[in-house]
Amino acid sequence: MNASATRAVRLLTRQRLNGTLNARNGRLAQRTCSLFPRPGNITATRTIITASKLEAQPTVAKPPPPKDNETKPQNENSDVKRFSQFDLTGKVFIVTGGAQGLGLEMAEALAEAGAKVYCLDRAQQPDPATWSSALKRVPSAYGGSLHYRKQDVQDTSGLDELIASIATENNRLDGVVAAAGVQQITPAMEYNPNDVARTLAINYTGVFMTATSAARQMHKLRQPGSIVLIASMSGLVANKGLISPVYNSSKAAVIQLARNLAMEWSRKQEDGTGGIRVNCISPGHILTPMVRKNFEEVPGLREKWEAENMMGRLAETREFRGVVQFLASDASSFMTGGNLVVDGGHTAW
Ligand SMILES: NC(=O)c1ccc[n+]([C@@H]2O[C@H](COP(=O)([O-])OP(=O)(O)OC[C@H]3O[C@@H](n4cnc5c(N)ncnc54)[C@H](O)[C@@H]3O)[C@@H](O)[C@H]2O)c1
Repeated sequence: MNASATRAVRLLTRQRLNGTLNARNGRLAQRTCSLFPRPGNITATRTIITASKLEAQPTVAKPPPPKDNETKPQNENSDVKRFSQFDLTGKVFIVTGGAQGLGLEMAEALAEAGAKVYCLDRAQQPDPATWSSALKRVPSAYGGSLHYRKQDVQDTSGLDELIASIATENNRLDGVVAAAGVQQITPAMEYNPNDVARTLAINYTGVFMTATSAARQMHKLRQPGSIVLIASMSGLVANKGLISPVYNSSKAAVIQLARNLAMEWSRKQEDGTGGIRVNCISPGHILTPMVRKNFEEVPGLREKWEAENMMGRLAETREFRGVVQFLASDASSFMTGGNLVVDGGHTAW
């Protein structure tokens, strides 16, 4: 091989070697791009493209900037209201026992969903601090509001008149939550008849008369709706550590009452009456003023109740907001005569 032939072979070898390296670099670059894809990058896939193919790719032009109306993500469901079945806008509800505790929390939850809610309670006025913070939490945007009326549920004629006046004033009544209740921890053999009668007058007769007064107005207005009675898991089991025989049996009576009222009022009649669903909520132990008083009376009770619970704790009142919004609204439209047990698994083992 002469000198010029040797130079030609060296040049050819160098070019081939460069070509191989370029191809390898191209593959490496391609792999890198596939792992960290960028918009407009030509390698949106994991396909390995050789250098020669890479060279053959046309240059990808930068996409034009989006027009103003294209900058926001397009939501196909933007005109569909979220949780519309839970919407209580424009509806009117009454909650007894609404000055504090579970009653007030549930009233707030209904107002949050858009309802005008009347809290009835025997207290002269609700606790100012609790009430004003509840008012602040109700979002005015949804149109809901809270109102207070003093009323003892044992005064059944006064209760009936007040419920009638609320329904007439608003020309509607969509339902009631009967939460007024009392508890007394006393061993059975020490109970006297007056105490039995007092507890039943509030926990049973009061709940019954609240439901019938509301249903009477709903019937008159041809207004379907939802009645929610607050029972208790203590109406289902002998609640360990709760030496409260009358309270517990009053709650069992409320669960049975709901089934009977549901049987009478649920069916929509041809004349427009009916369509009134009746259900119970049976809570487990909740940290309310009623229960805190129990803990003061019986040392060690809190620890005992916590130990009996699958979750190892008691409930906060806010954990009942969703369940009352569900039962009061169309979200539960096929539910009547039922009893929702919300007890952290207390009665499930
Ligand atoms: N706290 C719990 O662990 C628990 C568990 C299961 C069921 N419950 C039930 O939940 C409901 C609310 O209980 P809470 O724990 O919030 O108690 P709570 O004592 O904190 O509140 C009860 C409210 O009912 C009112 N009330 C009592 N008697 C009344 C009457 N005659 N007329 C009008 N209002 C009256 C009280 O003034 C009070 O505002 C009750 O029916 C109770 O039995 C509570």
